[in-house]
Amino acid sequence: MLGVCYYPEHWPEAWWPDDARRMREMGISFVRIGEFAWSRLEPSRGAFDFGWLDRAMDVLGEAGLKIVLGTPTAAPPKWLMDEHPEIAPIDEQGRSYGFGGRRHYNFSSDVWRGETRRIVETIARHFGQHRALVGWQTDNEYGCHGTVFSWGPEDLKGFRDWLRRRYQTADQLNEAWGNVFWSMEVRRFDEVPLPAMTVADPNPAARLDFWRFKSDEIAAYNLMQCEIVRAHSPGRWITHNFMGFSNGFDSWKVGNALDFASHDSYPLGLAESFLPTEEERCRWAETSHPDIAPFNHDLYRGIGRGRFWVMEQQPGPVNWAPWNPVPKPGMVRLWTWEALAHGAEVVSYFRWRQAPFAQEQFHAGLNLPGLSIGGHEATAVGRELETIGRLPEPGQARVAIVYDYEAAWVLRVLPQGQDFRFPELVFRWYEAARRLGLDVDFVAPGAALDGYALVLVPSLPIITQAALAALEACEAVIVFGSRSGSKTWNCAIPANLPTGPLAELTDVRITQVASLRPGLHDAVDGNVTGNAVRWREYVETDADVLGRFESGDPALIAKGRSLYLACWPDEKLLASVMKYAVEEAGLEMLDLPEHVRIRRRGGYTFCFNYGGPDWGCPADAKLVLGESVIRSQQVAIWVN
Ligand code: GAL
Repeated sequence: MLGVCYYPEHWPEAWWPDDARRMREMGISFVRIGEFAWSRLEPSRGAFDFGWLDRAMDVLGEAGLKIVLGTPTAAPPKWLMDEHPEIAPIDEQGRSYGFGGRRHYNFSSDVWRGETRRIVETIARHFGQHRALVGWQTDNEYGCHGTVFSWGPEDLKGFRDWLRRRYQTADQLNEAWGNVFWSMEVRRFDEVPLPAMTVADPNPAARLDFWRFKSDEIAAYNLMQCEIVRAHSPGRWITHNFMGFSNGFDSWKVGNALDFASHDSYPLGLAESFLPTEEERCRWAETSHPDIAPFNHDLYRGIGRGRFWVMEQQPGPVNWAPWNPVPKPGMVRLWTWEALAHGAEVVSYFRWRQAPFAQEQFHAGLNLPGLSIGGHEATAVGRELETIGRLPEPGQARVAIVYDYEAAWVLRVLPQGQDFRFPELVFRWYEAARRLGLDVDFVAPGAALDGYALVLVPSLPIITQAALAALEACEAVIVFGSRSGSKTWNCAIPANLPTGPLAELTDVRITQVASLRPGLHDAVDGNVTGNAVRWREYVETDADVLGRFESGDPALIAKGRSLYLACWPDEKLLASVMKYAVEEAGLEMLDLPEHVRIRRRGGYTFCFNYGGPDWGCPADAKLVLGESVIRSQQVAIWVN
């Protein structure tokens, strides 16, 4: 169940056999290679040099390693960029990005798509049947370094075509976007501008559609790569390594073309860049917050339709966050077990050996050249896995979170309060559920909700018919968060006012909304208690009111099995709402301290201490790994 990312092109060929042998000794079975090697595979146009990679694959294969090959499109070589500068993405000011890093391509460039077809096909034909090759990774981290968007002529052309297909006539486009406002009407599709560099904000409907267009371009680009690989490399699976907390494109759609999803798990880098307050960033600097990696494991397991890998696992300090601490002893092992607890089929460390050159010199590897601390911890997991043997299959959780990428986009293009951050909101709901010891699945809006006892919808502004049908059909307790049903498909206010299509399910009509600047809050009391912060809504309803704001206005509304929470809850209110909903749903719950988490996989319960006081596992637990007192940075597994 362990893997590693390896760059044979970075090391003398004489080292490869020993590297491969040592990987096997550590318990590593999978090795990912090749995803940035274009300049070595095709040093100039048409002059392919595959010999070195053939030999590397032979060496790795002979050592008993199974190979995952990356398509090399994340790093187009210099000669190609010189030949076709139009491949480079263009910023909002119309400036082209230069050569010298990576991901310097635009998904909407025709030439680039042609070049992609050419290199992927050539590589898939040549390496696709290698006996050690088990699977493929398309590209590398779509959207990394802010590369979802590009603002050049080809983007404009593609966008206009996309709009033409969507709206057929300019009048219908004007109508859908509300272009009569500020005289934004166009007569023809070729008059539509890119929604950038306007004096006042561009129309949010235009920005949302441009985002959808770009997301569709990425899904189509990935599908194109998958189709080529499948044609020439039969019997091998295909995945893509998504990034944690990435909302730039619709990963559900990209995931549809893959056999399963994988993601790159950097718990400390993400703690530093995702957590919102200084206090939290310091608290979790060396262990990471106990829900950061798990959130992404659960989300990508959903995107992989029940299957996922960690393609890159942080093995020590990284190089790319504003500050990059060393993980506390034990954390690399703990993160590995946490991924396995969430159903990861393989955890693959990034990278085998620290690179003493170029951009990522400060990034740890499993070797320094000799084993690093992370290398020793990975070895320990390898041994433990050998002792424990096959882990049981992970089952469906009882709690689901509906996760919608369009929600992230709508709330960005029309925020109305600058701290209404969708990813943070969902993260808080997830955290609140996990503090109660619950396992959580993520589902796409519109996916069937059978088998769940509790469905959480932290915010779902646009309710498609499919989403509505799934919510209506489901028998679970559903908790809707604020702004659900607040926008039409075109980012307008629904005619019946929010909650729009959810009006019947929730019996909630929103007449006004207030965003609350930091420092302001509105107390909530009743069956639940705490504070509204950041956002609060004014509700008309005939349904039961379970919690009220100070003014007496409804804050938590219940109709049948659906609850609607009309604010952004602070920690206390969210915990209180979550407990209420979990009781309603008839689920058992724990009350875990901030640093302890539990996750089940089949009959195994895994417990993790993310840095804090000891935690005792239940007296009757039959331990499979660890001790009954789980100390800081330690893991235990028991059978119930
Ligand atoms: C990932 C990327 C790797 C490497 C790594 C460093 O985002 O896929 O190539 O750059 O980060 O942490």
